[in-house]
This record gives sequence, structure tokens and C-alpha cells, in this order.
Amino acid sequence: MFPRDFAWGAGTAAYQIEGGWQADGKGASIWDTFTHEGGRVFGEQNGDEACRSYELWDEDLKCIETLGLTHYRLSLSWARLLPDGNTRHVNQKGVEYYNKVIDDLLACNVSPMVTLYHFDLPQALQDQGGWKSAGTATLFDSYAKFCFHTFGGRVKLWITINEPYVCAKLGHEDGTHAPGLKEPGTAAYLVGHNMLRAHAMAWHSYDSLYRAQQEGAVSLAINSDWLEPLNAGCAEDIAATERLLAFTLGWFAWPVFVTGDYPEVMRSAIDAQSEKSGYSSRLPSFSKDEPAILGTADFFALNYYTSRKVKQGGGCGEKLCMKSDRDAGEVLDPSWPICGVSWLAVVPQGLRKLLKYIKNNFNNPAVYVTENGFSQVGRLQTEDVQRAEFYKDTIAEVAKALQEDEVNVRGYFAWSLLDNFEWADGFSVRFGLYHVDFADAKRKRTIYRSGREYAKIISKNRCGQS
Ligand code: GAL
Repeated sequence: MFPRDFAWGAGTAAYQIEGGWQADGKGASIWDTFTHEGGRVFGEQNGDEACRSYELWDEDLKCIETLGLTHYRLSLSWARLLPDGNTRHVNQKGVEYYNKVIDDLLACNVSPMVTLYHFDLPQALQDQGGWKSAGTATLFDSYAKFCFHTFGGRVKLWITINEPYVCAKLGHEDGTHAPGLKEPGTAAYLVGHNMLRAHAMAWHSYDSLYRAQQEGAVSLAINSDWLEPLNAGCAEDIAATERLLAFTLGWFAWPVFVTGDYPEVMRSAIDAQSEKSGYSSRLPSFSKDEPAILGTADFFALNYYTSRKVKQGGGCGEKLCMKSDRDAGEVLDPSWPICGVSWLAVVPQGLRKLLKYIKNNFNNPAVYVTENGFSQVGRLQTEDVQRAEFYKDTIAEVAKALQEDEVNVRGYFAWSLLDNFEWADGFSVRFGLYHVDFADAKRKRTIYRSGREYAKIISKNRCGQS
């Protein structure tokens, strides 16, 4: 049984659904550039049109209403609002678009959860150094203040940055996400650092300028797998698991929720490797002259997809890289089914364990599961029985976390409302509760069986039944 005020949501992100990449004065983002360069994305696909939600928002709203969601998580496109990334030039058409989305949601009794940054930096700011540049954090703060000022009277739940880990590692270490930089062992730590600074500045701005009047809550969305030692009796595997958790969940959660600094095990591992390679430390330090990082989250926003077993070892030979710093390898348990994409082992019980871990290690915060989902590849199956089962099983684990482990879970957001542009996988990977026909100019949306089942779960729980 879930509390009556539990948030039942689904999420999307601007670049993945909106399209209209040049419509009405929108500026380019790093994903526009990355996809147009070619050779980066499955089938050379891009988000130029995607689900066309910029024109077809009314269709999305119908889906949201049919599901009976209490909350909808969307992201704002920074470059649609501020085409050059700074507040000197505001694109009024962009403001109108998001005003309509927010007003329509509220008119339907659906609360918006708004993410300010979901992977799509304005290209104009990438040209000035992007997230590697300290100044980007200041510009993010101005953008955040602009959004709080413009939309904050109507938005009570804010996410500053979605998955800084993914932006830092995939975008700047592996180069598989925009901006496509491959600078192993260095850039990701700098990017993560500037993202934390940006988040903290925005949180402090909200706290001092808007909170009293707007009464909302602000956090950042942290992604993490649940990790367990491959061999529970092996001290090396246990230590490797602790290290890997510090380099993923801990990297962003520890500074915000526990100490105001990176986990000690992360810093010492990086320092040890740096010394070997003749580098000074590659993990920056927080300055005492800047807004404090500790305490800058009003709730814990968790994106959970999968679990891994961990063993000691890994690395990339002589070269400097994050893998060597972590010295921990990930292994899939053969008993876990894989759904669609190779990285997504289906482990609903991992979510319960992770929620309990968060309760115990991060001072029992209020938690929203801001993303969780299951993908489909290959032949389209609108009767997606396995995904429907997955949602049922996962939500049952959330219920156990609430009731048996007494984790303060406040909401659950399925990823995603719609099939959409799944980053480097293009449209080949479908995460939607609704199927979108990308061959159709009207992008017809059709509910999957999993969407119908999720709607039933929501309706049962909103009526107070178990
Ligand atoms: C997350 C991301 C989403 C979505 C999801 C599924 O990392 O925030 O945008 O793509 O993964 O892969």
C-alpha cells in the first residue's frame, strides 16, 4: 500500500522528444552538433524531429491523462529558452511553449517535476569550453534563476542536473555521448566538479531568492546501479565494490549529502594512480570561497536501472583512465535476464537494496525514484508482457522498501512516457509506456500493455487499495 500523496510519474527529456531543433529561434545544443557530425549514433539518427513534442504536446498530454499520472517529469531545453546560453537573449517562443506545458499539466491536476539540464548544453557554451570551464557553472546558475523566476510559481519539484555521472563519463571520458570528448582520466573529474558547483550555486539561489515565496524543493538526479561483491567472502571484492560505489553514487551523493567533499576512497585511489603516472591529483577540490556543496538537496532523486556484481581489477594498461582509478570490474549474474540493451539486466530487487543503502548512508532523505525502466529492441511488441511484469515487480520492491525498510520514498517515475531518441542508440531502443510511430508524420502514439498495467497500478493505489 502506498501513501495517498505518493507521486506516480513518468519522465521524458527535451532532446529525446521535442524535435523542432531550429524552430522559432531555438539555439543549437551539443546533441544537435554531435548527431549532425555523423558516425556517432545508431543509423546516423538524430533528434531533429524525434516525437515532435514541440508541435504535438497536446498528444503527450492525452497520454499523461490516460495513464492517470499524478506527476510528469520533463526537461527544459536551455538552448530553446536562451539560444546563446546566457540571459542577454531570451527566446520568448520557448518561454511560451513551456508555459503552456506547465499550465496544461496543472489544469489536469498533474504536477510538473522540471529538470533544468538533461544532457543538452547550448553549443554556444560548448564553444567557450563547456563543462570543463568553471564559468559554465556561473552561467548555469543564471539560467536556473531565470527558470525559477519564470516558472517557479507553478513548479514545486526541480532537478538541476540529470545524471552528472553520465554527462561526465560518457561525454568526456568515453566520448559516446555529446560533446564526444575522449580525455580519459582527467576531463570527467573536472566536468563532474563543475556540475556539482553549478548545482550548488543554483540550489543556493533558490534557497535565498525563491524558496520562501515558491515553496518548492530542489535536487539533482543521481544515477546508480546496485553493486554487490562477486564473491561475498572475498575482501578484495568487497573493497572493490565499496570503491566502485564511491566512484558512481558516492561521487555526487557524498559531497551533497554527507561531507561536502568527495568520498575519501575515491580521492585516495585517484591520488595513488596520479602519483604513479607523475600527475598531481586529477580530482579538483572545492573552494571555501564558493557556496557550500553540503546540504544542497531537498530530496534524493535516484535514477535506477540495473545491478552488477563487482570484482577487483580492471584498468586500461599503462594509460591514465577512470577504469584504472577504480580498479573494479563489473560482472553480470547469469541469473539476471537481459532486456533489450546489453547493459540492462533486470534486477527489481536491486532497487530495494539501493533504497535501503541510501537511507542508511545519506541521512534518511526523502527519495524520489526519478527514473526506472525497461527497454525493447528489434521487433515491435505492443503486448509487452515482460515489461508489464517488470513494472509490477519493481513497484512491489518499492512498496517493501517503504513498508518493511521504512525508506522515505515519496514517488516513482517510469522511464519513459514515450519511445524516444535513446541517445547513441537512436530510435532502435524503445523505453516508452507509449509506442511512437516514427515513420508517421503525426508520430502516432499507441499505448503498450505495460502502459495499461502501469495505469492500473496507479489507479488502484490512488484509491487507497493495496
Ligand atoms: C538515463 C537517461 C535517460 C534515458 C535512460 C535510459 O541515463 O537519463 O535520458 O535515456 O537513461 O537509457
